[in-house]
Amino acid sequence: MSLPASQSPVALVTGAARRVGRAIALELARAGCDVIVHHHRSAADALEVAAQIRGMGRRSECLAADLTNPAAVQALFLQIDALFGGLDVLVNNAAVFRRTPFPALDESAFDFHMDANLKAPYLCCLEAGRRMTAAGSGVIINLTDVAAERPFKNHVPYCISKAGLVMLTRGLAKALAPKVRVNAVGPGTVLFRDDEDDAARKAVIARIPMGRIGRPEDVAATVRFLALEAPHTTGQVLLVDGGRSLD
Ligand SMILES: NC(=O)c1ccc[n+]([C@@H]2O[C@H](COP(=O)([O-])OP(=O)(O)OC[C@H]3O[C@@H](n4cnc5c(N)ncnc54)[C@H](OP(=O)(O)O)[C@@H]3O)[C@@H](O)[C@H]2O)c1
Repeated sequence: MSLPASQSPVALVTGAARRVGRAIALELARAGCDVIVHHHRSAADALEVAAQIRGMGRRSECLAADLTNPAAVQALFLQIDALFGGLDVLVNNAAVFRRTPFPALDESAFDFHMDANLKAPYLCCLEAGRRMTAAGSGVIINLTDVAAERPFKNHVPYCISKAGLVMLTRGLAKALAPKVRVNAVGPGTVLFRDDEDDAARKAVIARIPMGRIGRPEDVAATVRFLALEAPHTTGQVLLVDGGRSLD
């Protein structure tokens, strides 16, 4: 199996101060989890999320770490050991997404995306996976992207990082079974970026059969499902894209 039935599961959501990560943290708290609200720069927002979770009667702490620093990843998990005594759910949500058209492709664009979107989740999976296998149960959810399969020409390093994260999900699902389940949620467009004008936004929506972009809550509900309600599902990527990838 993958989670102890008796007590409140302890969940770590990386990048949980804002946007999609915030929605996931709140959804897992509503589902009965105690939640570690990891953040990097958004300390004030993280405090607000943790306060909301405590208001639901759940335990919550904000923990800061630059996940591209392996020593900081290690320190984060040691803090979790000290504060919570264990970890049942890891959600690797934190990521970077920078426009990198071909002329801007260089070593640093590659490292920037790979360090945050693949190496950091890899290190978090190792830390969590060791603890979960020792405890006999646990669940890991990685936030990937439809772009892991369908490349965006102006975001090649980002797409490579998310494709790697899909394979990390599938590989660890085999390596950590049967004690730990590892799945991924692959959103399509959920939140527009500030640099997308009205015409660009309409063009995106026109290609989505469901007629709208996703909401952070759509992604959060899918994370909750895979984490808490899918005991025989591992190594899968569940797309939340309104049918966009059917084309
Ligand atoms: N938004 C979408 O439309 C969409 C579409 C497809 C897939 N996704 C995926 O879904 C997830 C959430 O998306 P999002 O748009 O909400 O993400 P986001 O706002 O781009 O990033 C989430 C958080 O990641 C944290 N982060 C970035 N670099 C970090 C580092 N070095 N160390 C620690 N934390 C770091 C930041 O925390 P701080 O703010 O605290 O610094 C940030 O708030 C991501 O994995 C993304 O790739 C999103």
